[in-house]
Amino acid sequence: MKIGIPKEIKNNENRVGMTPAGVLELSKKGHEVYVQSTAGDFSGFDDKDYHAAGATILPSIDRVYEVSDMIVKVKEPIEQEYGLIKENQIVFTYFHFASNQNLTEAMMRSKSVCIAYETVEDKDGTLPLLTPMSEVAGRMAIQQGAKYLEKPVKGKGLLLGGVPGVPPGKVLVLGAGVVGIQAAKMAAGLGAQVTVLDVNMNRLRHVNDIMPSHVVTEFSNEYNIRKHLKTTDLVVGGVLITGAKAPKLVTRDMLKTMQPGAVIVDVAVDQGGCIETTRPTTHEDPAYIIDDIVHYCVANMPGAVPYTSTLALTNVTLPYILKLADAGWEKACDHDPLLAKGLNIVKGAIVYDPILEAFGWDETYA
Ligand SMILES: NC(=O)c1ccc[n+]([C@@H]2O[C@H](COP(=O)([O-])OP(=O)(O)OC[C@H]3O[C@@H](n4cnc5c(N)ncnc54)[C@H](O)[C@@H]3O)[C@@H](O)[C@H]2O)c1
Repeated sequence: MKIGIPKEIKNNENRVGMTPAGVLELSKKGHEVYVQSTAGDFSGFDDKDYHAAGATILPSIDRVYEVSDMIVKVKEPIEQEYGLIKENQIVFTYFHFASNQNLTEAMMRSKSVCIAYETVEDKDGTLPLLTPMSEVAGRMAIQQGAKYLEKPVKGKGLLLGGVPGVPPGKVLVLGAGVVGIQAAKMAAGLGAQVTVLDVNMNRLRHVNDIMPSHVVTEFSNEYNIRKHLKTTDLVVGGVLITGAKAPKLVTRDMLKTMQPGAVIVDVAVDQGGCIETTRPTTHEDPAYIIDDIVHYCVANMPGAVPYTSTLALTNVTLPYILKLADAGWEKACDHDPLLAKGLNIVKGAIVYDPILEAFGWDETYA
């Protein structure tokens, strides 16, 4: 199969859909890989690395789409790419269709086969192609939170880990899922006092089992959240109710009870955020202040660390890319029903019901 790797052109997206390691695996199996020149530069891979692994380097994005049977990328295509996608071409990437009607209609018109990373499932119902990005964002939440606690960026002026003779800061983690556990681990590593809240007792048991004793768990309810906010230096929002908007666990009136200069990192911003005062920000202008509380709400945190994120993402996408390349999408999805859950739009038809539900369409919509 001919596989194309275009350079990402969405604002501030520095990742790339395949590393030279992926090119090598595909080339060994007789597939042809076409990489747009400089596509991997921000992730630490230059054209020579891809060429040495067996790729053909093409000068423009148009050529990559033109020659390829399957396009592998990171972010959803943006308007400039809509017209490049061909009938029957497989596009394997994050799409998040339910939040973008223009993209959905454009992909239907293209009559391509759209397989979305975010809906491929594992046997236990988890989403293997989303997990690594939550791991990155959870760890980054503490790195960013610690930074924004510094005075020059309007934080409280507190060193999260403390020093001998001065106690460390307090971190409140909302949600003990992938984001929450990685955030708690990083905060604990810095020596902070960490409290993790969740409504799922099994998650709390797990955290309690694996974390050191300065990470404590409590049930998530308004009473406990209000109690902790008074003394917390850094709040991390990592709550998710699958398929729904995040619940607003911290309301505006609660901000006034917090200490001036405290920081909120709402990782759940992509689902609307679990803090009432959250609004999405970008890496160009990541933080804002409301009621003396610093809010960091970047909707695309992993994009800032492409060296790590590209590897974390491509580690998990490559096995599926190999299946699609070896067998073609129809056979690959027949053999692997969990990969088949990634099928969202096939040759003009929506085959993933939540998209229809999101737009209030019925199955006859075309
Ligand atoms: N901003 C970014 O760049 C970025 C990157 C990756 C993930 N995310 C987002 O981070 C969020 C969390 O992702 P995840 O992979 O950790 O999800 P997850 O499903 O692994 O964990 C979510 C946790 O929230 C808990 N929860 C639900 N209701 C709660 C409540 N009322 N109080 C406390 N906990 C509650 C759940 O029980 C679960 O343990 C998602 O919205 C995800 O899209 C954002």
